[in-house]
Amino acid sequence: MPKVVPSSVNPCPERKLTDPSLAAALDDAEARALLDRAREARRHAYVPYSRFPVGAALLTADGAVFSGCNVENASYGLANCAERTAVFKAVSEGHTAFRAVAVVGPEDDLPCAPCGACRQVLSEFGPEMIVVMPAGPADRGGVAVTSVAALLPGAFGPERLPGRGA
Ligand code: THU
Repeated sequence: MPKVVPSSVNPCPERKLTDPSLAAALDDAEARALLDRAREARRHAYVPYSRFPVGAALLTADGAVFSGCNVENASYGLANCAERTAVFKAVSEGHTAFRAVAVVGPEDDLPCAPCGACRQVLSEFGPEMIVVMPAGPADRGGVAVTSVAALLPGAFGPERLPGRGA
């Protein structure tokens, strides 16, 4: 049973990013390793228009990690966020069960919460998925943890479609 990341590791509780009611989470080492993978992916961000690089790393149920960065386009609206790049890479290689996603924006130590579109795409593959973000200097704890469900309450999901459940 994975250990819940204690809320004390979040040095910025005023941001309310830590959800102590998470039923299952990552241990601290896993969260930090996933953040490192997101920072690594951020190096490849293609952001000539926004100059706002983002990296994401998605941990599958079987322990694989798929990372992604944002990829922009001269036709601005076609930009793809880092989180969705990671999800689409994983799903296109046969992975659809995820435990967690780490997201890192331009600042190593500041949270970069997933946008609405990415919350919806992550939710498709599990509202219980853990979301990890930086939250202050690493040497002072520096990890915030929440869940997709907490970030997207009342999500529209596949069960709403005819023949798919409720
Ligand atoms: N971006 C992401 O990659 N993920 C998010 O969740 C927030 C926004 C990207 C999109 C665009 O390339 C840049 O950040 C500025 O919005």
